[in-house]
Amino acid sequence: MDSETLEKYKKAGKIGSKIKEEVLERIKPGMKILELAEFIEKRILGLGGKPAFPVNIGINDITAHCTPKFNDETVIKPGDLVKIDQGIHVDGWVADMAYTYCSEKNELIKVVEKALEAGIGVIKPGVKISEISHAISGAVEGSGFGVIVNLTGHGLDQYIIHGPPTIPNMKNDSQQVLKESDVVALEPFVCETNGYVKESEPVEIFSFLQPRPVRLPEARKILDLASNEYNGLPFCKRWLVEKGLSPFKVSFALKQLEVSNSVKSYPVLRERSGLAVAQAEHTIIVKEKPFVTTI
Ligand code: CO
Repeated sequence: MDSETLEKYKKAGKIGSKIKEEVLERIKPGMKILELAEFIEKRILGLGGKPAFPVNIGINDITAHCTPKFNDETVIKPGDLVKIDQGIHVDGWVADMAYTYCSEKNELIKVVEKALEAGIGVIKPGVKISEISHAISGAVEGSGFGVIVNLTGHGLDQYIIHGPPTIPNMKNDSQQVLKESDVVALEPFVCETNGYVKESEPVEIFSFLQPRPVRLPEARKILDLASNEYNGLPFCKRWLVEKGLSPFKVSFALKQLEVSNSVKSYPVLRERSGLAVAQAEHTIIVKEKPFVTTI
């Protein structure tokens, strides 16, 4: 990794950790998730980064891919388990991080943070994926809880938020190894017992797949933004409405784009039996002493 890239990874990570601090000072029951998402996305820009994806705010069993609608009225309630997954990029070099807030003391949060730390603790050049998974799942099982089985950590690269390798939070026997300067995000999700996410409504997040001839002017505009402004990274309906497109036309155009296979959608992921889920995530550059960019 050249020093310029390293500096950009570091800058993105610093922006993320600063915003986390600011969010944890402000967040409280009664706050709208829309207000929270707008605060985070504005701060990312204000601090010199760009959102690598729309801020995900998942409450309780809503586990991933949930970003507020443009007119979202959802309010944080006392005792809600609120997962905030924020991505920042500087010229495409991404800091991916998540944390969980609850107005009450919550054991799941403690355990998920401990599991993340355990995973980071074994990272070094040459470590097997299975060793990282073992450390994470060991910390969770040791506390008597479970993980979301079908969500994983992942690699990062320029303008790529979910690249290889896949890093399961469940024990496995992967012999694949990480090498010096690989960049990965570890991302345990903890619940009462092992859980699974399934796709659910609504669908607010999309990303560019490939150019296609489209007639509808709104569809053309969205495709242009998706590829040139968002650089293939995920975006959401709310961002398009903020750009002056009508909500109805945005939904209509996105349906057409999805059918023509030029964008991909990310439906909300919910724990299938309604278990409340806590999440923690950091971005790490693999070194003899792992460098966590998002602390
Ligand atoms: Co991630």
